[in-house]
Amino acid sequence: MRQKIVAGNWKCNTTLQEGIELAKAVDAIVAKEGAKDVVVVLGTPFTHITKVVETVDSKRIGVAAQNCAAEAKGAFTGEVSADMVKSTGASYVILGHSERREYYGETSEILNKKVALALANGLTPIFCCGEALNIREAGTHNEYVTKQLAETIFNLSSEDFKKIVIAYEPIWAIGTGVTASSEQAQDMHANIRAAITAKFGVEIAEGTSILYGGSCNAKNAKELFANKDVDGGLIGGASLKAEDFIHIINGF
Ligand code: PGA
Repeated sequence: MRQKIVAGNWKCNTTLQEGIELAKAVDAIVAKEGAKDVVVVLGTPFTHITKVVETVDSKRIGVAAQNCAAEAKGAFTGEVSADMVKSTGASYVILGHSERREYYGETSEILNKKVALALANGLTPIFCCGEALNIREAGTHNEYVTKQLAETIFNLSSEDFKKIVIAYEPIWAIGTGVTASSEQAQDMHANIRAAITAKFGVEIAEGTSILYGGSCNAKNAKELFANKDVDGGLIGGASLKAEDFIHIINGF
């Protein structure tokens, strides 16, 4: 059975102190109410990871970086390597988010290097894909997303691909309050799973967790997660409030 995962993506929000408070609040509620069989992950800024790892119970909650460098080490001022991320106690890294692709010029070539370094350091990549509004309107979203995967994580060996979590995040739904309909999400997730089946076979496809992201919130999570190919969510805005985030976890 593939894992159900709800991962928060705090993006460039919270001071260290606010982040610790948020992590404490999530940890306390998960400890009290339980998260059933859902894997809970907090994607914090680099500066917060060590403290958040200390704050939460690692049996209940994993911690993710939101990026890592495309180089292993060296003279790359301002960069944080996969090796450094691993040394903080984080176990996941979000890669290929559309904001990084769009604002920081992350190409498939760069992402391939990041994924390789993340895997080499024992981190689980949460690999994002998703189309812009014009592509959705043109009706070519399935081909577009399949191509994003073909250029990146489909180049991995089967053994490495099995370690990847995919997040489908339609760009038009991120931070806009316009979520994909349950049907749109299921259609795309089925498309992604079919592409994985064609590339790696049915067993690996059935074992791959595919998360939905894009204005997923306490109100719509249940309906989205009820779809057979939606294995959880990557949550931006709604992960910044512990109560909302817990509602989403309880959406399963
Ligand atoms: P959102 O962001 O939930 O605020 O739409 C999701 C994401 O970008 O991961």
